[in-house]
Amino acid sequence: SRESTVSITVVGASGDLAKKKIFPALFALYYEGCLPKHFTIYGYARSKMTTEQLRTTVCQTLTCRIDQSESCGEIIEEFLDRCFYHSGHYNVEEDFAELDKALQQQEVGGRVANRLFYLSIPPDVFVDVVRCASKCASSLKGWMRMIVEKPFGRDLESSAELTRDLKQYLSEEQIFRIDHYLGKELVEDLSVLRFSNLIFEPLWSRQYIRNVQILFSEDFGTEGRGGYFDNYGIIRDIMQNHLLQILALFAMEPPVSMNAEDIRNEKVKVLRSMRPLQLEDVVVGQYKSHVKGGIKYPGYTDDKTVPSNSITPTFAAAALFIDNARWDGVPFLMKAGKALHNRRAEVRVQFRHVPGNLFKRSFGMDLDQATNELVIRVQPDEAIYLKINNKVPGLGMRLDHINLNLLYADRYSREIPDAYERLLLDAIEGERRLFIRSDELDAAWSIFTPLLKALEVRRVAPELYPYGSRGPTGAHYLAAKYHVRWGDVG
Ligand code: BG6
Repeated sequence: SRESTVSITVVGASGDLAKKKIFPALFALYYEGCLPKHFTIYGYARSKMTTEQLRTTVCQTLTCRIDQSESCGEIIEEFLDRCFYHSGHYNVEEDFAELDKALQQQEVGGRVANRLFYLSIPPDVFVDVVRCASKCASSLKGWMRMIVEKPFGRDLESSAELTRDLKQYLSEEQIFRIDHYLGKELVEDLSVLRFSNLIFEPLWSRQYIRNVQILFSEDFGTEGRGGYFDNYGIIRDIMQNHLLQILALFAMEPPVSMNAEDIRNEKVKVLRSMRPLQLEDVVVGQYKSHVKGGIKYPGYTDDKTVPSNSITPTFAAAALFIDNARWDGVPFLMKAGKALHNRRAEVRVQFRHVPGNLFKRSFGMDLDQATNELVIRVQPDEAIYLKINNKVPGLGMRLDHINLNLLYADRYSREIPDAYERLLLDAIEGERRLFIRSDELDAAWSIFTPLLKALEVRRVAPELYPYGSRGPTGAHYLAAKYHVRWGDVG
């Protein structure tokens, strides 16, 4: 086939995400030999900067994964030689026309030119950029794709409006809505675990599963991102996207194939079977300052960019239900919070009690506490482990509740790629499996929008919890209401 070129334009190149994630991920792909032969990378932003300055900034964040030898420096140089910078406004077509000229200079040699844009910018300029960039590319022979990252609106209506606006200039096939949790190794592994092992799928239903917990915690606060965060809160920042995507992959019916459309069809179906979340099934919290070891950790409203009377939740726990034959009555509990005691993301599957258990009343074990639990630890220290009951070796009969443990660091020597690497590579290759389709986004918003509105209208006050704690006690009452004990405590 004829050779092609790919130019990758990072719009918002001077921002944090670009520096911390996108450029390093592009370099890692280059380092691994995954980028196409003819590629160029453009940084585009309003800041006045030269290509040299961009290269200097980008260079500071690049590391070679495997060897730190001299060749590493050379590879970084080669990569930086392909990086350019172009400054311009986000809503001025002429500025994009200039960018277009610069891109065309790279798209030479009779090759088919393809363009990927990564919109690492605030959502209020998405549509401007898409309009300008697509108008300037009218003579483009190859494909044009745009990666957009949340927030996709604040609720069902504003999200649908954004979709409508984008579709004035782009087709659904050109829009790559990223949710970086879908690029995480263990989130991808969920389907492998379920569908390639005989021993899990038959148990994957209300018949054997008591509850499912999807947990996210961070041990730091909003740290300068308060301005963005206060507009959205933890439910929009983490639950409606990252945790719900995990839930959809966990709970969907087996897809016809692993193709993007087949998988996304199943995800939409399961999301549409979910009950809209009710106020009484949610607990919200906000962290307050706390002194520990002589250090004062700031409260959420101590952040200068946050209004001092803000009631935006930095923590939420929720009980969700899927009204279909497989999951009827099984609580799916989510918990997400900032400024908690640790940083972790995991899925916990608690199985039912063994019927007529022979070991129930003797042998030194409370079997109500000792049901099987499967844990998929997404981060840190990626792992999958299964809690089982086992006999303690010896002449007596004593039972032990232990872990069958797959710790990635012990089993695999290869470093786990960053989520953005996988997702960028997929976007370049046109693989849509890990991107969110617009009907999926609508279904996700439908579950959370009534709740988000109720929280705002009633000005529900969050329960305060100290920075670095385990979060509000209200979360325990919520779980207890459904006879659930959070798996991550004690
Ligand atoms: C982002 C949220 O989507 O995910 C942040 O906006 C959060 O608030 C981040 O910190 C967490 O991502 P990760 O990959 O570090 O778990």
